[in-house]
Amino acid sequence: MEDKGFAVLRLIFCFASVMLPFVYGDLSYSIPEETKRNYIVGNIAKDLGIDSRSFFSRKARLDFEGTRKRYCDINMNTGDLITLERIDREDLCGQKPSCVLKTDLVLENPLEVHRLNLHIQDINDNSPKFIDSLIEMEIRESADKGNRFSIEEAHDEDIGQNAVQRYSLQKNDNFILSADSNKVELLLENTLDREKQKLINLILTALDGGSPQRSGTVVIHITVLDANDNAPVFSQSVYKATLPENSPPDTVVITVSAADADEGINGDVTYDFGHVSNNDLSIFSIDPKSGEIRVTGVIDFEERNSFEMRVKAKDGLGLTSYAKVIIAVTDINDNAPVIYLKSLSNPIPENISPGTEVGIINIQDTDSENNKQVRCSIQQGVPFKLVPSIKNYYSLVTTEQLDRELVSDYNVTITATDEGSPPLSSSKTVQLSVADINDNPPVFEEQSYSAYVTENNKPGSTLCSVTARDPDWRQNGTVIYSLLPGEVNGAPVSSYLSINGDTGVIHAVRSFDYEQFRSFKVHVMARDNGSPPLSSNVTVSVFVSDVNDNSPQILYPTPEGNSFMTELVPKAAHGGSLVSKVIAVDADSGQNAWLSYQIVKSTDPGLFTIGLHSGEIRTQRDISESDNMKQNLIVSVKDNGQPPLSATCAMYLLISDNLAEVPELKDISYDEKNSKLTSYLIIALVSVSTVFLTFIIIVMGVRFCRRRKPRLLFDGAVAIPSAYLPPNYSDVDGTGTLRSTYNYDAYLTTGSRTSDFKFVTSYNDNTLPADQTLRKSPSDFADPFEDLEATAEV
Ligand SMILES: *[C@@H]1O[C@H](CO)[C@@H](O)[C@H](O)[C@H]1NC(C)=O
Ligand SMILES: *[C@@H]1O[C@H](CO)[C@@H](O)[C@H](O)[C@H]1NC(C)=O
Ligand SMILES: *[C@@H]1O[C@H](CO)[C@@H](O)[C@H](O)[C@H]1NC(C)=O
Repeated sequence: MEDKGFAVLRLIFCFASVMLPFVYGDLSYSIPEETKRNYIVGNIAKDLGIDSRSFFSRKARLDFEGTRKRYCDINMNTGDLITLERIDREDLCGQKPSCVLKTDLVLENPLEVHRLNLHIQDINDNSPKFIDSLIEMEIRESADKGNRFSIEEAHDEDIGQNAVQRYSLQKNDNFILSADSNKVELLLENTLDREKQKLINLILTALDGGSPQRSGTVVIHITVLDANDNAPVFSQSVYKATLPENSPPDTVVITVSAADADEGINGDVTYDFGHVSNNDLSIFSIDPKSGEIRVTGVIDFEERNSFEMRVKAKDGLGLTSYAKVIIAVTDINDNAPVIYLKSLSNPIPENISPGTEVGIINIQDTDSENNKQVRCSIQQGVPFKLVPSIKNYYSLVTTEQLDRELVSDYNVTITATDEGSPPLSSSKTVQLSVADINDNPPVFEEQSYSAYVTENNKPGSTLCSVTARDPDWRQNGTVIYSLLPGEVNGAPVSSYLSINGDTGVIHAVRSFDYEQFRSFKVHVMARDNGSPPLSSNVTVSVFVSDVNDNSPQILYPTPEGNSFMTELVPKAAHGGSLVSKVIAVDADSGQNAWLSYQIVKSTDPGLFTIGLHSGEIRTQRDISESDNMKQNLIVSVKDNGQPPLSATCAMYLLISDNLAEVPELKDISYDEKNSKLTSYLIIALVSVSTVFLTFIIIVMGVRFCRRRKPRLLFDGAVAIPSAYLPPNYSDVDGTGTLRSTYNYDAYLTTGSRTSDFKFVTSYNDNTLPADQTLRKSPSDFADPFEDLEATAEV
């Protein structure tokens, strides 16, 4: 059309330059395009002032340049300018703002040329048009807000108002339209998200300004391209799992998963641990593909009871996100309680009172909750118990009195059991020993000891031995023997006996004399070596047994006075009458003192007999006148010892009724001796009386000043009986025939019956029972001194 238009313009120009001298005036008409045929544009005749009838004659015609189409013609009859065909302005002039069709009206006779300008006017006969009905676009989702995307404009062949005036874009979330005369653009108002909307279809409408308005549309097809704009996203921000301790390797603890909305490599998620200590790394592993977290190391609740780790999910291009994994380890009863001995008093003195704490025990179980609840017990049958104290501490206390001498060592087994399932237990044995306390005195094996020794023993000979036992330990049980001080017969015991301190063997220090003492008692003490020492004592009775070492002693008749000790025998004495008696004693005892009498020689052997054991001399028959007046007997007194000892004496008997009848007897007897004897007797009597009086006075004196001279007193008291009699007559064990009530009468006589006095005493009174000491006797008759007894007693 443009070419066409251009050609027409050039044509008109040439035409005008050649024909200019003939041009009379121009005529202008305007016609809208697209009018139908025979549209009357105007009346030329009238416009020119020419009679239309002359047109024929003047051969009026319209000249168009070249072969150009004839758009118009003249109606010769009317002089009207009519269109010959539809005129398309766009075809004729294209986009030229004015479209003028120029032609010449030629009249002949005379030649007259008039320029006709036909202005073709546009009508809105074209719609705006886009080149394509579909515009495909690809926009990256990462495009920034404000980015512009150009769209090719729509085109409208019409011009002016009828051309494209404006655009409108279908309403959408992301884009708005930015259009001006130059360009049409989509302006990204809100960023794209492929993951939300992958394809966007927009309809863009172009509108012209004609009336009626025409429009054209295009579909804009936008594909949103993926950008790795999405990090993987974990399904949970915190994963929690519980895991029993001691779970074997490869146990799956938990699986984490993360999704990535991106595509392809952008959405490929791999898993790894985030920041995790090396230690934890050796305990857990994570599968990079599946996100499984597995156990690879040792899970020990007691060491770690929870783990907190970060896991990382990463997509192909390196966007990451993190989540937390908390693994709580649950306890398994895998630790037995442990018993610790915190303190122990060992050894324990045996004298501690029941309930004393001897040790402290602590029990620990590293498990938790029930698995660490511990019960503690102690074996039966030991005198100990556990007393719970604070926080798994226990006191080990005694329950009863200990006795080292019964049980000296204890192995106390303590057992601790927890309350897990199954329960675990452990035990510990505590060795306790009991320390000795010197709580046992030595005890003699026997209540009392007796030692028998024959008199005249050798000094140093062993009498007996005592033994005491002390169950205490070491020096507390070491026994030392000693003699308790005391006196025997006025001499210290140590002068009689000695004891071996270690062995308890008792020795005699000197030779004993049965006739001096027949028995005595000593006290032996056994003492241990403890501090303080304990002791006990025992009585040792020493019995001296008799040896026949004393000859019988004839008291009457006195041996030296054989001539003057004369017995009168009445002439009328019948057979069997007692004439006299030989009195003899033997310091020994028993058989050794059992005396037998025999007449070994006599003037008239048939006249007198002597009692074998009584010593009584009796007539054997009646005295006859023929019997010799003077009879002499030699009597032998013999004891029954082995070998026997004997003594003899002579007895003078005078058969007479009256001493006076025998003056010759006085002659026979020595006068001076007789008078001497008498004076002796008087002296004896006086001295006896004096001694007795003295004794009474002393007794009285002592009553007033007791204890002044007790010893002296006793010595005096003892002296009295021993002045008359040998100290001991009785045999030791009391089995002797003479023992019980052997009385003897001593007739001390001057030869006259009137002067006879009889000293009668009981054998028993002056001798001492075997189980008593000599020293006891004075006290029997010296009651006032009973308080002295203790001091005097051995
Ligand atoms: C205690 O145990 C020790 C060592 O096992 C053992 O020698 C001792 O005889 C035991 N004592 C008792 C009283 O059981
Ligand atoms: C003996 O007993 C005492 C307490 O009476 C005690 O202190 C001491 O340790 C004991 N000796 C031995 C050797 O056990
Ligand atoms: C000897 O033992 C008795 C009891 O056995 C006691 O009464 C006495 O005091 C003790 N004597 C001495 C000297 O220890």
